[in-house]
Amino acid sequence: MFFERPDSGEVTILVNIAIDSDSVREDPNEFEELASSAGALSVEFISGSRKQPSPTYFVGAGKLEEIAAAVKSHGAQVVLFNHTLSPSQERNLEKALRCRVLDRTGLILDIFAQRARSHEGKLQVELAQLKHLSSRLKRGWTHLDRQKGGIGLRGAGEKQLELDQRMIGVRIKALNKGLAKVRSQRNQGRRSRSRAEIPTISIVGYTNAGKSTLFNELTNASTFVADQLFATLDSTLRRIELPNYGSAILADTVGFISRLPHQLVEAFRATLEETASASLLLHVIDYSNEEKDKFIDNVNSVLTEIDAHAIPQLQVFNKIDLLGDFEPKIERDKFDKPSKVWISAAEGAGIDLLRKAIAEILAGSVVSEKIRLAPNLTRLRSQIFSKGFVEEEHIDEEGYYHLRVRLPDAELERLTRQGAVIEAVSLVVSSKNAESLEVGEALTG
Ligand code: GTP
Repeated sequence: MFFERPDSGEVTILVNIAIDSDSVREDPNEFEELASSAGALSVEFISGSRKQPSPTYFVGAGKLEEIAAAVKSHGAQVVLFNHTLSPSQERNLEKALRCRVLDRTGLILDIFAQRARSHEGKLQVELAQLKHLSSRLKRGWTHLDRQKGGIGLRGAGEKQLELDQRMIGVRIKALNKGLAKVRSQRNQGRRSRSRAEIPTISIVGYTNAGKSTLFNELTNASTFVADQLFATLDSTLRRIELPNYGSAILADTVGFISRLPHQLVEAFRATLEETASASLLLHVIDYSNEEKDKFIDNVNSVLTEIDAHAIPQLQVFNKIDLLGDFEPKIERDKFDKPSKVWISAAEGAGIDLLRKAIAEILAGSVVSEKIRLAPNLTRLRSQIFSKGFVEEEHIDEEGYYHLRVRLPDAELERLTRQGAVIEAVSLVVSSKNAESLEVGEALTG
């Protein structure tokens, strides 16, 4: 269903117009990167400014002539606009320029179509593409019929030439059904992880920051890594072991970009839900990039949009190998918790430091306590054993279990939070230094 990118890039003209009334301008550098990510061979970058877009062609008559001349002199196959175009603007431009015209959303969708790895990701992309294309059906592409597999013509774009509106409707229905099934499986997986109390750590960050590289380094798995935008589209889950802590699930997620069109955030909400339900976010930042502060802000605003801004965050400053003499290190906040770690994922430098920092955050402080369990709490007892927290145990004549345990603060709290054990919470919290803690005492009463 998804097609290989053509070996040599398509000859492409880029158009970026600054609109006076727009409070936020699209970034021209990022636009060039996006285009090359899509496999475009950009031969000319045309920029300009306007008070507001023209309803017919987005650009004015003079600019249209300039673009047409560039298309002709380079024999360009595609013109990419770094803006959202209405279906009729796209149609008019294609007629006037006699070549394919794609807007920013179409371009990003095309990149997503190339990069989708999981079944869910592929369904999401195809659905988003079909929705985007269904309003743009009548564009008279017959002259382009034989030219398949180019930018905007992959995935659903390729099929556009064959499908009519009714068939698209049928396909959208089938995709929605498929997605609902995948989502329910995903939710089930998440629920069973939360029952087993395995925390999820989600890797987030601006595109190209090094998330996949770090994911591989932490999991020793080989996932697809490429020096292009959006190497990661689907969240990929793997179990990792952390020192003095135990297991956690690591999730690799889609790379964020500035001003990801809102409809795309919607389309990928399900994938991002993994992020919204994580216990910890590893926010990977390319420390060698001069624009890193802007990228950090961008990522944080996407996190706000998906309700993930309140999740604890560890900032991971990556690519320190590009800065010469720079050693891996940890920075702590005023509560002495790790807040920033400097690493090189590519060289594996600072990875141990990062593992320790993650474990420390997840665990909170480790405490050593004596606890007592009522005779009927056998399940809770075996849970505590299976996590390796028990250092010593003896059972008294009445069948009470006396355990000396060494465990993370949060784990102790979690134990006391289980069902009828709640009364013991205040005991635990208020008598943290007491000799013996009555976990689950309330159950016996
Ligand atoms: P998207 O999936 O597009 O969001 O990218 P990503 O954040 O997953 O980045 P990825 O891991 O694909 O890395 C992007 C590029 O940066 C690749 O060429 C990596 O080899 C390179 N890279 C990653 N980590 C490091 C590092 O520590 N040092 C250097 N020099 N390059 C790195």
